[in-house]
Amino acid sequence: MIIAIDGPAASGKGTLGTRLAEHLGLAHLDTGLLYRAVACTLIDQKAALTDIAAATLAAQSLTLDRLADPRLRGASMGEFASVISGYQPVRDALLTFQHQFAAQEGGAVLDGRDIGTVVCPHADVKLFITAAPEERARRRHLELQRRGEPSEYERILNDIRRRDQRDMNRSTAPLKAAADAVTLDTTNLDADAAFEAALAIIKARPAQK
Ligand code: DC
Repeated sequence: MIIAIDGPAASGKGTLGTRLAEHLGLAHLDTGLLYRAVACTLIDQKAALTDIAAATLAAQSLTLDRLADPRLRGASMGEFASVISGYQPVRDALLTFQHQFAAQEGGAVLDGRDIGTVVCPHADVKLFITAAPEERARRRHLELQRRGEPSEYERILNDIRRRDQRDMNRSTAPLKAAADAVTLDTTNLDADAAFEAALAIIKARPAQK
């Protein structure tokens, strides 16, 4: 079974993906980490974020173990990732990586921006997770505070709005719900309620697609 989860920054799709994968016994890939890892490699190499050739090479040589680096989860890495995610050759290289991951026996849960539309258009279940920008900023703010990172609500809200604009308006694989995705608005749902709602959607799907 393949479960595709898409949605904007800090919508809760990562947490949901982790919990669904655990519950269903499936592998899980947070695909945002792939873009973050490419950005991080450029920074380590002191290459410019505008260096498409270096970014493409980084994407082509990416390995799963690279995704455990805690630096990838910082707020600035999300911003850098959003920039390099607009490069088509980077997306092409990461598409191959994601296809290989999705092809593993038993299936997988993938979350990102273009999973239901581009990466796994034939996924068994497609979820599109949304939440109001203010609520997403509040969650991200709390998460950063919990990790002891400096955080300012207004700034996070502005970052989220800017990233939404960039992710939704880029020409290649923009953030949008697949026509056959079920949208789940988590503005008023906590992580438990979002998990239960997603599980109900998965259980209610037609027996075989
Ligand atoms: O979900 P995240 O914040 O870790 O994602 C970081 C950036 O990576 C996001 O702003 C856009 C990009 N991204 C993408 O273009 N496609 C994906 N499937 C996942 C992330």
